[in-house]
Amino acid sequence: MKVALAYSGGLDTTVAIRWLQEKYGAEVYTVTVDVGQEEDFKEIEEKAYKSGAVKHYHIDARQKFAEEYVARAIKANALYEGEYPLSSALSRPLIAEEVAKIALREGCDAVAHGCTGKGNDQLRFDATFAATAPDLKILAPVREWNMNREDEIEYALKNGLPINPRKSRFSIDENLWGRSIEAAELEDPWTEPPNEAFKLVKPLEETPNTPEELVIGFTGGIPTSLNGENSTMLEIIGKLNKIGGQHGYGVIDHIEDRVIGLKSREVYEAPAALILIKTHMDLEKMILGRRHLSFKQQIDKTWAEMIYSGLWADPLRKALDAFIDESQKNVTGEVRIKLYKGTMRITGRRAEKAAYAKEIITYSRESLFDQKAGEGFSKLWSLETRLTTLSEK
Ligand code: ARG
Repeated sequence: MKVALAYSGGLDTTVAIRWLQEKYGAEVYTVTVDVGQEEDFKEIEEKAYKSGAVKHYHIDARQKFAEEYVARAIKANALYEGEYPLSSALSRPLIAEEVAKIALREGCDAVAHGCTGKGNDQLRFDATFAATAPDLKILAPVREWNMNREDEIEYALKNGLPINPRKSRFSIDENLWGRSIEAAELEDPWTEPPNEAFKLVKPLEETPNTPEELVIGFTGGIPTSLNGENSTMLEIIGKLNKIGGQHGYGVIDHIEDRVIGLKSREVYEAPAALILIKTHMDLEKMILGRRHLSFKQQIDKTWAEMIYSGLWADPLRKALDAFIDESQKNVTGEVRIKLYKGTMRITGRRAEKAAYAKEIITYSRESLFDQKAGEGFSKLWSLETRLTTLSEK
């Protein structure tokens, strides 16, 4: 039996290589997909071979992730439960798709992932595998074996697997759109995350004492410039993660509802994601009409819930994206922000195709608005209230 395994180099998937060999006598093809996590990929490759992989693949998918996944999330203002920018959730369908491609190319009988049986990630991998390689068997060693972290470490040591003497007690998942931090003392929702849990965002005491101003430019709903300079999305995201983090901005700490019905305390750092989504939302308000905005909010919410629950490959997601793409045609302009001591304040916005009309809304004498028109409008506006309250008496 030949198996292609999504391999991160972490404990779960390192243990999985050996387990697949033991249980199925499998030839394991490991696939590591670079979605912007800062890792030593050479070391990951060595670990894969030391653990028994027959062949290792490294795939640089950063640009694809930014342009085909993150760009859609920005246009959809995607924040699950209003908070989580879906960093881990968005990467899963891309990773699974790359693994499935290699499985098909190598003539594998199965695809495999290292997800546990109580998280959301299993749903995301399994659904993408189902859509891209429906004939292959799906193996999930950690889920099947019902192992916990302690069991895994014991198994790894017994089998001489190359696991790191844990660099961190936390379970980390990282990519260019954000970093998820779980486990250890964070499982107590009252415990404050210690400074060492964070990598991108500085403790407030260490942030600069002067605010920093930035101008973010969007074209058709996608970020295309920073401080007036045209840049790729990858570059903009990288810079915003750095600058936002320096100012202590970008931590999310919330109680999240997993698909299976469990609540979990989740801690993330995602400066660029929060800056880009919030500035994008602001720019949309300059351009789209009230009904358009309000309807889009419903679409955006459904979009985020679908991505969270692993339904990237579902035709409904594509249909929602068709609506979202249409809505973004005129979302071009700039938003100015100020970062300071863990906060981000929007301080201005401008757009060529703005629906905002200063010459009409202005309080000054030059206003083009004829206030007399307000009288009839206001009278009719309250007509229904007048009639319904009368009938109650
Ligand atoms: N709760 C988040 C989600 O479901 C983060 C998952 C992080 N995954 C991990 N293996 N640590 O998207």
